[in-house]
Amino acid sequence: MTKPELYPLRGSLRVTTIGEGRHVKILPSSCHSRRLICDVDSVSFASSKMAPKKTQSALIVQAKDKAQLRHDLAIPSPNPNQILIRTRAVALNPSDWMALELFSRAGAGMGFDFAGTVVELGSGTHQLWAIGERVAGMVHGYHSADYVQGAFREYILTDADLVMRIPAHISFAEASAIGMGISTAGQALYQSLMLSLPEVEPKPVDETILIYGGSTSTGSLAIQLAKLSGYRVITTCSARNKEWLRSLQADEVIDYTDEDAVMSVLDSIGAAGLTSILDCIANPDTAAFCYQCLTPSERPTPTSEPTFTYASLMPVGSLPPKPESLPADSVIIHRMNMVYTSFGRRFNLLDRTWEPSPMDREFMVRFYRRVENLLSHGKLRSMPFTTMQGGLAGISRGIAEVRDGRVRGKKLVYVVTE
Ligand SMILES: NC(=O)c1ccc[n+]([C@@H]2O[C@H](COP(=O)([O-])OP(=O)(O)OC[C@H]3O[C@@H](n4cnc5c(N)ncnc54)[C@H](OP(=O)(O)O)[C@@H]3O)[C@@H](O)[C@H]2O)c1
Repeated sequence: MTKPELYPLRGSLRVTTIGEGRHVKILPSSCHSRRLICDVDSVSFASSKMAPKKTQSALIVQAKDKAQLRHDLAIPSPNPNQILIRTRAVALNPSDWMALELFSRAGAGMGFDFAGTVVELGSGTHQLWAIGERVAGMVHGYHSADYVQGAFREYILTDADLVMRIPAHISFAEASAIGMGISTAGQALYQSLMLSLPEVEPKPVDETILIYGGSTSTGSLAIQLAKLSGYRVITTCSARNKEWLRSLQADEVIDYTDEDAVMSVLDSIGAAGLTSILDCIANPDTAAFCYQCLTPSERPTPTSEPTFTYASLMPVGSLPPKPESLPADSVIIHRMNMVYTSFGRRFNLLDRTWEPSPMDREFMVRFYRRVENLLSHGKLRSMPFTTMQGGLAGISRGIAEVRDGRVRGKKLVYVVTE
């Protein structure tokens, strides 16, 4: 098959040839001089008399804690640096209920995580994408009163470099469950904790990391990334998720509900010590747990001042005091990352205004290319997921289930278009 010619799939199209396998050759009726070849999945077949679709269904914040499914929203056109994606599946995050209840305004488009196919290209994106490519990622949903952004809709607009190509062996449903988790885990491990970047064939690093809350979506992806960075991984979860985290190659999996869980972590640390911790739950109890686990290396280090880094995904309020077991001259650095800083827009959250960070954006663009490579080599898996009924119309109920703590150790995924 020749490389597909790039052409936006808008307006009526005429099929001229049915190719082998999953490809058709189609001729845009408005442009008789150009042909394009594209994946069957990306083409909607319609009678020549049918007008092109101009509106879409989308979930919009109607009021605090109230979503509205509208069917009259315009399908936007990408600017030169954007692409338009036909949504195939979307996934829920705890951030959906938090945003809906706590920090979004009426009119905002809902949803973060998605997977779909590219259906229209901004004028400057033809080198990056072809029509019909399978992609996944996250968008900055719930942003002020912006109904154009958001993932819970039939057509998603996104920056062309802030989306990931997905290989054929990963279903749209599974791919929809990785966007926010992988982006957050990437920021936390490589920007906050400054670990070595992940490789398809990692070289072992003689260092250990504790990932508290390994059975979260972010934590399960962080375990896989940290292993691909060559680190030894100790992680915590409840008993029912232990086998799953072992299957992700975590070296030690400890039940955080055990009375002696801290001791179990300390016993498994070894001579390299424990100087880097990612806390995916991040409350005063988990911070206290993590601080007790910090352990200096037994090996002589070139720096005079031992440094420990505690990264959290949420603010933890007041941090615990430095444990007496640590050297008097040691320093504990606390970093909290916020995934939206990579997505180019100022936002208000957790009682402060966050500026977009060009450095975080640049990191994410490069990190996504690395993740694409890891995905194509079968090196990353999403959290287990359940495909729910109802499409966009079913999402509000799912958000309430996540809010009420009825969803543990799995993601809820919704098919938007078959
Ligand atoms: N900073 C950012 O940019 C950012 C981005 C995304 C998410 N977040 C935040 O990060 C946190 C994790 O999000 P996620 O989507 O990855 O999580 P998730 O997939 O919803 O995690 C659910 C799992 O968390 C575990 N858990 C819940 N409460 C716990 C507790 N008190 N102690 C220990 N484990 C507990 C449970 O595992 P077990 O069943 O094993 O107990 C549960 O299955 C959330 O607070 C979210 O808001 C922050």
